[in-house]
Amino acid sequence: MSYRLDYAESVCSVAKRLKQEHEEIDRKLGRISKAARTKNGNPKVVVSLLNAVKIQILRHAVEEEARLARVIMESSEIRKKSDESVRILQEHRRIKEFLEDELPYLLDENSEKEARKKIVEFTELMIRHHMEEEKEVFPLALRATSNR
Ligand SMILES: [Fe+2]
Ligand SMILES: [Fe+2]
Repeated sequence: MSYRLDYAESVCSVAKRLKQEHEEIDRKLGRISKAARTKNGNPKVVVSLLNAVKIQILRHAVEEEARLARVIMESSEIRKKSDESVRILQEHRRIKEFLEDELPYLLDENSEKEARKKIVEFTELMIRHHMEEEKEVFPLALRATSNR
């Protein structure tokens, strides 16, 4: 997987693109959540659907940290207002942990019902995370770069 980032791209353009990625990821997660809640659906299929979007989610988070969190922290003025943004970005730890450490063993270590529940909870966490980023983190990063 390549995590190479284009640092020549403006933060404004990065934020716009990341917002589009939220829409795309949320659409996929909506389908996954629906499948997880379908009682007679195959849970292995649900896990493989989530596996298919895993790399996109992780790469997206890397870009948020390398581009958005970085410009927020580089401005001493903006950094003072970053508590909420930092809290939101720290959710990446939980997201990464679920996708990399829990998902591969989800069906072995949980009952089918529990596994479905965990997947639904994860999709809800992600969708809320995206909303909070758009409300808090993206505007702060744009403010940090607005007078450059
Ligand atoms: Fe994020
Ligand atoms: Fe995001």
